[in-house]
Amino acid sequence: MHIRHFLSIHDLPPDGFWHLIDLARDIKLNPASYLHTLDGRALAMVFEKASLRTRVTFEVGIQQLGGFAVYLAPGDIGLGKREAVIDVARNLSRWVDGIMARTFDHATIVNLAEHATVPVINGLTDLLHPCQAMADYLTMLEHRGRLHGLCIAYVGDGNNVAHSLMFGAARCGARLSIATPHGYEPDRRIVLAAREDARSSGATIELTDDPREALIDADVVYTDTWVSMGHEAETASRREAFAAYQVNARLMAYARPDAIFMHCLPCHRGEEVTDDVIESPQSVVYDQAENRLHMQKAIMLDLLGTSGEQHA
Ligand code: CP
Ligand code: NVA
Repeated sequence: MHIRHFLSIHDLPPDGFWHLIDLARDIKLNPASYLHTLDGRALAMVFEKASLRTRVTFEVGIQQLGGFAVYLAPGDIGLGKREAVIDVARNLSRWVDGIMARTFDHATIVNLAEHATVPVINGLTDLLHPCQAMADYLTMLEHRGRLHGLCIAYVGDGNNVAHSLMFGAARCGARLSIATPHGYEPDRRIVLAAREDARSSGATIELTDDPREALIDADVVYTDTWVSMGHEAETASRREAFAAYQVNARLMAYARPDAIFMHCLPCHRGEEVTDDVIESPQSVVYDQAENRLHMQKAIMLDLLGTSGEQHA
């Protein structure tokens, strides 16, 4: 049987992006209609890294759909250390109806998905953060009323969040400009794959080292931490490399006056973003965090629900 996973926006079927956006919007609007849609279903949540938003939104989300979650903290199961990934995948598949995993190496979650006989959902890897980007596109749609042609500036590290925003832009036809210092550009393979996906939507994905250039005409300004989980040893050199990429009021002035400010959180106030920007009326960071709940309910329902089984 073919099991559907959600490891990357790049892997969604052609209508998959809009299906999830529409489903998440309906779940947000009519939560009571979805109360028993995953009755009795179990989700294992495997974390190799820390989390606030991902853990809470998946756990609360599956409970709101009638199911429940089993949280496996970093260190609990020793994925690939105490036990091979293949055996963790096969064991979990005998007990639960879905697995959400947050891993360092992207190859670990791919390995998990290859050997699981239940759907696997990517809750962040070093390479991608697709649940975050899907919630972010829902947030942009709510605040801007459209995604096609929307001008998005991403400033900072060409990391997992930037990669998934690229794949999302490619699906919805947004115009994404990514400004990074030299040496911190997005992964070349992801840029090529996203540009390939963009051919059918009319999206554009531009790279620059000039944050001001990226912000010109921007409807959305997005940044993320300079030091992603796993890169803590590089903190000092990264702070130096990214100093000119701080999103502050001076930089925001290059964007459209009604531009929204976005950040996946956790943020480091005074580093990648200043307090005045994140606290400004332009900031929608807590709407993004809220939308993780609605979007992931849509993803779980799509993969673990009975309509998911019919698709499989
Ligand atoms: N944005 C996000 O994924 O937050 P957590 O690391 O707290 O889950
Ligand atoms: N890029 C960040 C995102 C955290 C949600 C990290 O990987 O740590």
